[in-house]
Amino acid sequence: MKNLSAYGSRLLIGAMFCCTALCFADMPEQAAVCVACHGPNGNSSMPNTPSLAGQNARYIYLQLRDFQEGRRQNAMMSPMAANLTRDEMRALATYFSEQKLSNKNFRADPEKVKLGLAKAEETLCAMCHLGEFRGQNEIPKVAGQNYDYIVKTLLDFKAKSRTNDAGNMTSVANTLSPTDIENLAHYIAGLN
Ligand code: HEC
Ligand code: HEC
Repeated sequence: MKNLSAYGSRLLIGAMFCCTALCFADMPEQAAVCVACHGPNGNSSMPNTPSLAGQNARYIYLQLRDFQEGRRQNAMMSPMAANLTRDEMRALATYFSEQKLSNKNFRADPEKVKLGLAKAEETLCAMCHLGEFRGQNEIPKVAGQNYDYIVKTLLDFKAKSRTNDAGNMTSVANTLSPTDIENLAHYIAGLN
């Protein structure tokens, strides 16, 4: 009996240890800082702050590197990437890529969605972003992204204040009017 209960408490301690190690293993320490702006699990409700939930890990990692090395600049975000090691960036990228994106608060205007979809087809966005903007590797998923952020970042590409895209997006954004951008953002933000 005595042996059995000693065995039982060892099991319990073992289980608690495993849970501490496993249950939190995929939530990197720094993620607590990120969610202050990027929202719970990377689901942002701040207008010009992108959601990270469900984004491609490769893309997240490359953007963190670009912010750290100054190829992409933003007064709020650049300081956040400044002191991360490459391993921390990879862990954060994996963590956020595995979270579920929820965009249930966005109300798309059906007329703008129709025009946005037509513009996306005409401009061949899917050639790089794949169908319904689901993204691949270093090409971001944009489906369900924050509406204001989509508008802001497309205007940034157009104005060349965001230039870390090897020219891909600058040349695309050049062909878009502010109205096209608004329509595209209604279409894309409403996707899942
Ligand atoms: C003080 C607010 C704030 C904090 C804290 C913050 N970010 Fe950001 N982050 C932003 C903003 C704002 C942008 C958009 C920058 C822009 O417009 O170019 C951004 C952009 C990004 C992007 C680019 C996403 C995309 O779709 O292009 C990544 C990746 C990112 N942040 C990761 C992180 C990680 C990881 C952390 C925690 C270590 C973090 N951020 C902490 C505000 C913040
Ligand atoms: C030639 C390939 C290509 C085409 C075509 C293209 N994109 Fe992109 N797009 C990219 C790449 C690559 C990036 C990431 C750039 C970077 O690393 O900063 C990107 C980034 C973006 C972003 C920023 C996402 C974020 O989280 O910050 C948006 C929004 C976007 N594209 C929308 C569009 C739309 C809308 C179209 C069509 C009108 C389009 N793209 C066509 C390659 C392309």
